[in-house]
Amino acid sequence: MDDPVLTAKPILERFRLDGRVALVTGGAQGIGRAYAHALAEAGANVALVDVQFEKAEGVAGELEKKGVEAIAVKADVTKIDQVDAMIKTIMKKWSKLTIGVNNAGIGQWVPSEDMSEHDWDHVLNTNLKGVFLCAQAEARVMIPAGYGKIINTASMSGTIVNMPQDQSAYNTSKAGVIHLTKSLAAEWAKDGVRVNSISPGYTRTQLVSDLLETPIGKEVLPVWMTFTPMGKMGEVTDLTGAVVYLAAEVSDFMTGSDIIIDGGFCCW
Ligand code: NAI
Repeated sequence: MDDPVLTAKPILERFRLDGRVALVTGGAQGIGRAYAHALAEAGANVALVDVQFEKAEGVAGELEKKGVEAIAVKADVTKIDQVDAMIKTIMKKWSKLTIGVNNAGIGQWVPSEDMSEHDWDHVLNTNLKGVFLCAQAEARVMIPAGYGKIINTASMSGTIVNMPQDQSAYNTSKAGVIHLTKSLAAEWAKDGVRVNSISPGYTRTQLVSDLLETPIGKEVLPVWMTFTPMGKMGEVTDLTGAVVYLAAEVSDFMTGSDIIIDGGFCCW
């Protein structure tokens, strides 16, 4: 019998992404931008998908300096026609898509008794429906190719309920992303398409700093630090090893899993 320990490629080579094509939604800033840099450093060509087109173009320029090809694509992930157009643009440019990182998302703190239908729909449409529409469109080109890696950004909020802030729509959307990930993984495993999620804990980005500027913001931070065993927020670069791992062949036996990176928050 073959001995995989002796015949497998060296471990760091199995993390390489040379020649692969990735898209990252929400790639104009924050976690998505950091993911895009990491995928590019591992060798992938990257499409930065965002509603903020000029910022996405700026990130594409940063990636090109690292020696890969990169494009910015303007698309709202909640709109099926724009998601389809996004895939067409990428296929026209590279004729393939190997890695889909569905990361665009929004945060919202609203007590449930005050939440409007619009508040609820806005969060669920962006964070959950948007992930579904992108994953579906990506799978439609990955299935015929017989291989693909879909990585969804969930959150520790899909596993625990944050406090002291109220964010039921957000928490529900992220629990949905984790279960959607498992459902799609089970459906598409036979087609060679792996679907996993990464669940960050509190990570220093615009999304969090905007929320911390709301009236409740000042009360919130000390509570978060008390309940995070590591006593600090994460940096976007704390998440990037996981995205390269999930994008690369080294994780090919992994599907339907959620990787939580939260400084230990979910331990307590
Ligand atoms: P961010 O606000 O810095 O970046 C989000 C990006 O998504 C922005 O560039 C924005 O323009 C884009 N975007 C928003 N709605 C969009 C839409 N409909 N279509 C296309 N692009 C859209 O936020 P951050 O922190 O980088 O968050 C990225 C993901 O990580 C989100 O899904 C968020 O829920 C998740 N997350 C963030 C955590 C944190 O502490 N920062 C913790 C856990 C999860």
